[in-house]
Amino acid sequence: MSHIIAPSILSADFANIQRDVEMINKSEADWFHIDIMDGMFVPNISFGFPVVKAIKKHATKPLDVHLMINDPDRYLQAFKDAGADILTVHFEACTHLHRTIQAIKALGMKAGVAINPHTPAIFLTDIMSELDLICVMSVNPGFGGQKFIDNTFSKVADLREMKSTTKSKAYIEIDGGVDLNNYRKLIDTGANVLVAGNTVFSAPDPVKMISDLKK
Ligand code: DX5
Ligand code: ZN
Repeated sequence: MSHIIAPSILSADFANIQRDVEMINKSEADWFHIDIMDGMFVPNISFGFPVVKAIKKHATKPLDVHLMINDPDRYLQAFKDAGADILTVHFEACTHLHRTIQAIKALGMKAGVAINPHTPAIFLTDIMSELDLICVMSVNPGFGGQKFIDNTFSKVADLREMKSTTKSKAYIEIDGGVDLNNYRKLIDTGANVLVAGNTVFSAPDPVKMISDLKK
């Protein structure tokens, strides 16, 4: 199967969100990546349930919702109701990660865990077989348009190894600073989902950029 492209709505034009959602609908993109920030876990606030619901109303592809929030257990049902298909929580934000993952799945969503740049892949060993997605942060979460952290490659290689030993089928998603210079090496190293915000939305032709990242 070819890799998945998930444009990040964080870089869309919020005054023209329906237009940007339609652009992604008609493009070769596979998912919508939706970043939720609480101003506590990360030093930025993005948007909440009404915006996710508005996107869901127009989106014809799955919503991959990335929660950069403390204590996400409080809001799992609300994100399900808002239209999330895949719900990703941060390893660093969950005291009882196993319980949180089970709760996401019990609500009928696919469950993901994101790890910050300082968190080693090996910390996921005992949860890996339960996960549908592992999101490797290749920037410090909180903002779009940041520079890609090169250590990501060795982390993806570690995860690929761990996947084969644990027989995990989890997607390996890369989030932050993905562009035409690094996407091919990321796929070759073992990633199979690429999030792209700035690279897509600042391109003169976003539909063509999505198509280029898909090649
Ligand atoms: C960063 C977010 C990313 C962000 C990626 O905290 O999780 O999803 O939108 O944006 P780019 O591709 O611009 O680095
Ligand atoms: Zn994200």
